[in-house]
Amino acid sequence: MPEHYDRIIRNGAVYDGSGAPPIEADLGIRGDTIATVGAVPHDAEAGEVIDATGHAVSPGFIDVHSHDDTLVFTEPEMFGKSMQGITTVINGNCGSGVVPRAFRRTITGDEGIPDWDDYAGYFAAVEANPPAVNVATLVGFGALRAAVIGDRADPRPATDDERAQMRTWMRESLEAGCVGLSTGLIYEPDRYASMDEVAAVAEELRPFEAIYASHVRGEGETLLEAHAEAIEIGRRANVPVQISHHKASGPKVWGLVNDSLAQIERARADGFDVTADQYPYTAGSTRLFAMRQNGWFEPDEGEMEVLLAAVAERPEWEGRTVADLAGEFDLPIDQAVNKILDEAGHGVFAIIFSMSEDDVRTVLAHPTTMIGTDGIGAGSRPHPRLWGTYPRVLGRYVRDEGLLPLETAIHKMTGMPAAKFNLPGRGTIEEGAVADLVVFDPATVIDVATYEDPKRPPAGMPWVLVNGEPVVRAGQHTRAIPGRPVRFGQR
Ligand code: ZN
Ligand code: CU
Repeated sequence: MPEHYDRIIRNGAVYDGSGAPPIEADLGIRGDTIATVGAVPHDAEAGEVIDATGHAVSPGFIDVHSHDDTLVFTEPEMFGKSMQGITTVINGNCGSGVVPRAFRRTITGDEGIPDWDDYAGYFAAVEANPPAVNVATLVGFGALRAAVIGDRADPRPATDDERAQMRTWMRESLEAGCVGLSTGLIYEPDRYASMDEVAAVAEELRPFEAIYASHVRGEGETLLEAHAEAIEIGRRANVPVQISHHKASGPKVWGLVNDSLAQIERARADGFDVTADQYPYTAGSTRLFAMRQNGWFEPDEGEMEVLLAAVAERPEWEGRTVADLAGEFDLPIDQAVNKILDEAGHGVFAIIFSMSEDDVRTVLAHPTTMIGTDGIGAGSRPHPRLWGTYPRVLGRYVRDEGLLPLETAIHKMTGMPAAKFNLPGRGTIEEGAVADLVVFDPATVIDVATYEDPKRPPAGMPWVLVNGEPVVRAGQHTRAIPGRPVRFGQR
């Protein structure tokens, strides 16, 4: 009797996600599982045979920095993520969360998304309405804090009772399967919480050994103090720390990543598990309101180009620069920003060219950095990282610039995040692992999405499998939705 598989991937160069160089091997897949790694007999039967000759075969990419909490319901195909090889997203970053429900802050709007009260309910909703990717999530501190404080703009500290309530929600969320706690300490209401308040909530992570992830309190002149705070919170709670989108923001501080990387190395030498994530671009993207609040438009900040990505109430402004609109309004930049926010509300997302290419390269090449998109799926002109992050690392930085070896880059996208966020069975190619897989051509893979035309799929990435099922087949999205919730520590 010939062996039978649902799918066979033949003749690829298999990267197992550990950082080891590739081996020539076939993969035999049954159901959602990699059943065989090695030589699959020629007479084996399969529902589908994928010829990976000349291609790399990698574990599916784990996007550790996602904001797809509601996008998974409003766009279940997850085109931008799926087409670039992402098979698992980790939501709830930067303090934004969708529990408690009344205080969740969604990026894509509330319309037509299912109901839930807590994270057990959120995971059940994902199970009942599956997207094309697997979904893990952090708990957003901002949502918990907004729920207890009531008014996001109220700068007071949380009372003892309010801390206790946040801790209860935190514990329940971890029991439901969340992978950790995130903060966004430049945003309301997180920014009004002291280190002590955050550390108290983070203590709930300890019995689970779940991680603390932080958009730190400053990415400019206060970067090192802000990192020190994140590391200290991890030390007090005795849990691993993840620095979100590691960068030095603003021309005045370019080069400071050398110091912040040294700081991370020192903490690691002292026994603390500190790592970071990064998207490989010199522009960031966030809410315009938060940029104004953080002083981005003060005259002494220097000229940084700002592009409007999403303006729900004035879509005709999407893709315009703030300088261009300021000219049209005949106003100085800071007053033009006020006018944009007055007319278009708080749901305005902007792109800001705030980083140096040297810094991006330095952080990317460092062994403590893993990859995440920080993509924001709103508006017509999102930051191209939503569609291009992973192929950009593989094509531009690995192949064209030789900044890091391919097996190292793949490790930063797969095995490294799976270990850090405790997702067993993912981020690896071995017998018994989940069949989340990407087949790409190292000679041609490249991001195609640009700031001008950001919703373009990459080249050179013909196959993406999620739980054994092709989501991308021969370069086309199949509209399959085989994703599922991924709970902390569970396969
Ligand atoms: Zn952030
Ligand atoms: Cu983020």
